[in-house]
Amino acid sequence: MSDVLLQIDGKEVNIREGATILEAAQSVGISIPTLCHHEKLEAYGGCRVCSVEADARGRTTVVAACLFPVEANLVVRTRTEKLNRIRKSLLEMMLAHAPDAEQLQELAQEYGADKARFEKEASFCIHCGLCVRYCAEVKKANALGFIDRGAKKEISFIPEIASKECWNCKECFPLCPTSALQAAFVLTKALSFPDSEE
Ligand code: SF4
Ligand code: FES
Repeated sequence: MSDVLLQIDGKEVNIREGATILEAAQSVGISIPTLCHHEKLEAYGGCRVCSVEADARGRTTVVAACLFPVEANLVVRTRTEKLNRIRKSLLEMMLAHAPDAEQLQELAQEYGADKARFEKEASFCIHCGLCVRYCAEVKKANALGFIDRGAKKEISFIPEIASKECWNCKECFPLCPTSALQAAFVLTKALSFPDSEE
């Protein structure tokens, strides 16, 4: 596979064909915020916090850096007024769900996001899907999934699987950008397998 030369924030970057903009940026030490990305998982493109501006074939578009593949002569900007506004709005919407999530608060400070902008809908989950995808793709256990749709969407452990698989794993816990995952697990444990040993 050949290499591709592109430009990110004025820096020339040489990277293998097929890499994403996020990988290209990381390879030269340019940091792009992410919330639903994990290097062991298939790209998902759920949170859009990694949005960047890309000039290609005479057009400027806003794309998700974790999904968009590099191409020759692409010109990428990772920090612009427009991107700051997009990230700020996205963070404000997510903060309505998880106002105390540390990772969101750090980004909110960086982008001047106001956690009081949207009415609170505290579900504590921001639907990044990291836990569900990690369990399915890496652990092949499928011990949890999403239930419901839209604003009501939330994660749920499948008690029959969780009671067998989760005790010695819990690898998804540190991936969660909010406290939703541990809370859901504790609830499942209390309701469904109260006698299990930790
Ligand atoms: S519980 Fe946490 S890791 Fe799982 S989807 Fe929700 S925010 Fe993401
Ligand atoms: S990190 Fe790219 S969409 Fe979430």
